Amino acid sequence: MRGSGAGKVRVKSAKGRTAQSVRWLERHLNDPYVHKAKAEGWRSRAAFKLIELDEKFHFLKGSRAVVDLGVAPGGWSQVVRKLVPKAAVVGIDLLPVDPIGGVTLFEMDFMDDKAPQLLRDALGDAPDLVISDMAANTVGHPQTDHLRTMALVEAAAWFAVENLRKGGTFVAKVFAGGTDGELLVLLKKNFTTIKHAKPPASRKGSVEWYVVAQGFKGRPDEPARDRTGAPIAE
Ligand SMILES: C[S@@+](CC[C@H](N)C(=O)[O-])C[C@H]1O[C@@H](n2cnc3c(N)ncnc32)[C@H](O)[C@@H]1O
Repeated sequence: MRGSGAGKVRVKSAKGRTAQSVRWLERHLNDPYVHKAKAEGWRSRAAFKLIELDEKFHFLKGSRAVVDLGVAPGGWSQVVRKLVPKAAVVGIDLLPVDPIGGVTLFEMDFMDDKAPQLLRDALGDAPDLVISDMAANTVGHPQTDHLRTMALVEAAAWFAVENLRKGGTFVAKVFAGGTDGELLVLLKKNFTTIKHAKPPASRKGSVEWYVVAQGFKGRPDEPARDRTGAPIAE
């Protein structure tokens, strides 16, 4: 590796690397968000996407119980703990995650039938925020990759609808044009506002977008709650 005149890092030797992995490495080494994340102690550059989404939509303030789907390596959970230190956080990922203070972590597939109950039990209360940065491993076939990631987003949206506290928020990574069809119908039926955003930290060339659904309308079976979130005996 060597630096070029403008301070850009170029990967000199491609030995054993595919052209695609050389491009990825060069992009990574020259990415200001990667350097900023390292300098500020965030585990991922993705941390900035959540920070930027929150700056626009203000869903973190006041959150008490948060579920982080696709938590590894932990940037989003770090952001939640930093900005709302009192919030209880549970996270799940296929990959192991180094411990994060105040976050309960599960290393398992969110699509496993047992996952929703485990997350609910660990949180001990209904979440007021469900965030999902899950993406399926790409196989290089755009339609397949799109469908696999959208299946994860749909499962995350159903989890949110079945568990969120009234007034809660659902934030999820989608692919461009991803919240059409059934997912959009589900979100429109259950949330008062649905916005799409591409935070500056999301690479321009990537097809990822984020959907931010706020004002969960609640479930008919959900007990009325007071301002502290405690159920009101009827
Ligand atoms: C972009 S990363 C998340 C980055 C994270 N938000 C952060 O800030 O550190 C996406 C994660 O989704 C996870 N993932 C993909 N499919 C999953 C599944 N079925 N169950 C749980 N996690 C999954 C991947 O393992 C990966 O770690």
